[in-house]
Amino acid sequence: MAASTGASTAAQAGKTERPVRIWDLPTRLFHWTLVVCVTGSVVSAKLGGNAMVWHFRFGYAIFALLAFRLAWGLVGGHWSRFASFFVTPARLLAYLRGGGGDGAGADVGVGHNPLGALSVFAMLALLAVQVGSGLFADDEIANSGPLVALVSGATSSSLTSWHKSWGQWLILGLIGLHITAVLVYLWRMRQNLIRPMITGDKILSEPVRASADGWRQRLLALLLIGLGAGLVAAVVQLGSTGFGG
Ligand code: HEM
Repeated sequence: MAASTGASTAAQAGKTERPVRIWDLPTRLFHWTLVVCVTGSVVSAKLGGNAMVWHFRFGYAIFALLAFRLAWGLVGGHWSRFASFFVTPARLLAYLRGGGGDGAGADVGVGHNPLGALSVFAMLALLAVQVGSGLFADDEIANSGPLVALVSGATSSSLTSWHKSWGQWLILGLIGLHITAVLVYLWRMRQNLIRPMITGDKILSEPVRASADGWRQRLLALLLIGLGAGLVAAVVQLGSTGFGG
């Protein structure tokens, strides 16, 4: 993020600014689809009743998206790979001191900065736990997760309780923090992180490696999301109880 600072500074230093592809299309689609699905899952859970069918559907979609993102973190565009924003204590400390990372050079703030990366990993992990607990949840009235028959009543009850309390609140808290951080960057630090998450490009003055974002990557992403959907179907089938209890 540090690399996308004010145009005037770069101009004064005689550096040329140019757009560099940071977020490839699959990562952007992943992000905004995740936003729609998480919002949809929260709203449908609050509505309850018949809307719970949609809660299940959004949950399955989030499951497929997370499986995709896990794979994309290994084979996706450079800045979407986990290796490019892996957080080490040294990197985090250097960032907090206003350094620039431990050997990662000026690149350290181009993708997710170490603080942002921590929140990204926490969001992805908590969402995975939320999906996992939902698969075994049972409200003992009308809705039960597809895998509820595979565990004991006590286990299902603990997972249901996590799903409806801690899991839900921790995710909502992190999302609140995430959106607040993005707005603080926008309004206080005059850095628009939202535009790159829409267009894919950041305007940079330093020479920085671009993320590959051609048709080959996009076809690979399509294949991976298809495999993710297949995985979800196979997991749901394991319990073969269907949704709705
Ligand atoms: C349900 C709500 C949301 C969830 C679950 C969520 C989740 C995430 C995740 C997982 C990432 C990491 C992307 C990746 O590397 O794959 C991310 C990044 C990002 N999100 Fe969100 N997001 C949400 C809402 C929003 C909203 C409403 C905005 C805009 C106002 C936003 C703006 C961004 C931006 C700008 C980044 C990139 C941050 C950076 O440059 O490090 N997000 N979000």
